[in-house]
Amino acid sequence: MGAGNRMAGGLGRRAGRGGGRIGRGRIQVRSRAPQRALLAALLPASLGLAACERSRPEYEPPDRAAQIEQAAADYSPAIFDSITWPADSVRAFDGNVVYATYCRNCHGQLGEGGTEYAVGRGLEVPSIVEEGWAYDAEPDSVRRLVFVGHVEGMPTWGVAGITPREIDAVTHYLLEVLRPEMIGG
Ligand code: HEC
Repeated sequence: MGAGNRMAGGLGRRAGRGGGRIGRGRIQVRSRAPQRALLAALLPASLGLAACERSRPEYEPPDRAAQIEQAAADYSPAIFDSITWPADSVRAFDGNVVYATYCRNCHGQLGEGGTEYAVGRGLEVPSIVEEGWAYDAEPDSVRRLVFVGHVEGMPTWGVAGITPREIDAVTHYLLEVLRPEMIGG
């Protein structure tokens, strides 16, 4: 088999070079052929070696507790200092979009929590529209919590992709629109 491959490789290389001058489409296909043949000849040997020396690496998701700790260290209330809004209505509108896009699956259309989606993932998502909620009138705490996340399944949004502006908007939406609508405050 080795000899055959070397032969094919030699022929392929020549054909490749010739083809290069003639047509565009075929050059690449032909000129790769010898490399492939060479690889096919070498691979079994190198794989055999690799298998003896080390086991295959496996994907390991980042440790959640470490991720949260890192986000807590990165967090600063000052990241919201420079955010301004032309009007609260714009802030609420954007916050509604953020909520619908990133939060509703787990927290529910109306913030009631315990959605099918969350339960299906073994998550206990509390209502965020209860009266006497610990975070009511605490926008700083809500922004921090959304940024940092929680080891019980609340994602670390500060790392997982939403911007401080979006966190600010959704916090405003939660505290100034959704909660008052739900509890009539
Ligand atoms: C994958 C599901 C999931 C998504 C998506 C999610 N959360 Fe959560 N959230 C949770 C869980 C689970 C908790 C409860 C964590 C705990 O045990 O403290 C939580 C807790 C919270 C709390 C604190 C509630 C309380 O009373 O302690 C707030 C506020 C919150 N989330 C806001 C948000 C916002 C805003 C978004 C969207 C940007 C969001 N969450 C997206 C799962 C989720």
